[in-house]
Amino acid sequence: MQLEQKNVLLGVSGGIAAYKTPDLVRKLTAQGANVRVILTASAEHFVSPLSLQAVSGNKVSSQLLDEEAEAGMGHIELARWADIFIIAPATANIIAKLTYGLADDLLTTLALATSAPIFIAPAMNQQMWAAAPTAENMQKLRERNTHILGPASGEQACGDVGYGRMLEPELITKALCDYCHEQSNEAIFSGVNIMITAGPTREAIDPVRYISNHSSGKMGFALAKAAQALGANVTLVAGPVSLESPAGVMRNNVVSAQDMFDAVHNSIAKQDIFIACAAVADYKLEQVSTQKMKKQHGDDKLSLCMVQNPDILKSVAALEQAPFTLGFAAETQDVETYAKSKLVKKNLDMIAANDVSNSELGFNSDQNALIVLTEEKSHNLSPKSKDLLAMELLKLLHSEYCEKHGSRD
Ligand code: C5P
Repeated sequence: MQLEQKNVLLGVSGGIAAYKTPDLVRKLTAQGANVRVILTASAEHFVSPLSLQAVSGNKVSSQLLDEEAEAGMGHIELARWADIFIIAPATANIIAKLTYGLADDLLTTLALATSAPIFIAPAMNQQMWAAAPTAENMQKLRERNTHILGPASGEQACGDVGYGRMLEPELITKALCDYCHEQSNEAIFSGVNIMITAGPTREAIDPVRYISNHSSGKMGFALAKAAQALGANVTLVAGPVSLESPAGVMRNNVVSAQDMFDAVHNSIAKQDIFIACAAVADYKLEQVSTQKMKKQHGDDKLSLCMVQNPDILKSVAALEQAPFTLGFAAETQDVETYAKSKLVKKNLDMIAANDVSNSELGFNSDQNALIVLTEEKSHNLSPKSKDLLAMELLKLLHSEYCEKHGSRD
């Protein structure tokens, strides 16, 4: 029971997926949570307050100005009571209100009045989800550390197919369990040195141009933050990204693959674990032009001669005193097969593979899902925020690391 003694405030807004909330309440209470439900006025058209009251065992409120409710647990008291505030389903309208801090009903007022972490499970028509205002609002909420769960893709009530389905109650419950588990982290990596590479590399063409890729560095930075929270001494070797260093992490900024290789090998001898999360350019220019290259009139083709960069991860795994190695594999097809062959070819202890053909996950996104392989085992880590996923991955890594080297606890 991973939500034992946790006070979960569930805000239900007016989307068709609201009919799934009695099931969500049941799943949360099965994990030991105390659940209180509040509804927006339009949510009452989709789910009966009475059913929610029956499954939660608590009175359900929807009015901000409700004398009876205020006499029981008033709205400020309710905001303070919550350990977690989850809004599911969160409609485009609620998301917009949360973004701009409107407080014209009980749900939005509580969102402002609570200091509990806020989770939202968006649910709407796929076009509404893709619309620029929603995307901008979501970006603002993410920057404010609102936890976003989903949405999932699939057939919608209106007949459309695409992103906008509320994440299933089971997955919402699991995300909240993972979050609570993360909050109770012990320093399992205390005294362990972990080096993490993150972000893209840039390969110069001439003094003003370069070749690079879309890696945002978010997964590597999330791993650094999680490793730090778990007590490790973290060295983050970061390619060019615009991300703040997690507190307490030693950061070494690099530009090219060769710079990254040098920075890694400079202090790899004292590392216990090496996590290669960077999207390192496989090739660099054979000859970087010292002057800005000019457009050749009359010749509409340009050929650049490129040579392979060193494989940083492979070189680390090949060291005589190699640390425990975790590599990443971004694949667009046959994810597990290609990842397994990379694990073997690079002689790694573990590999985490993601399907980058899904634009909602992985590269440059805030969410990710992974298949984690060792020589003998395979684990599926379901879609969630990169922060939660990083924590889950590191705990998995910890058990494999202890198995290989004997527990350090
Ligand atoms: O072979 P591929 O590039 O797909 O392997 C990906 C894994 O190898 C990632 O963990 C990446 O960080 C690492 N890598 C590396 N140096 C390279 C290329 C990839 O460390 N030159």
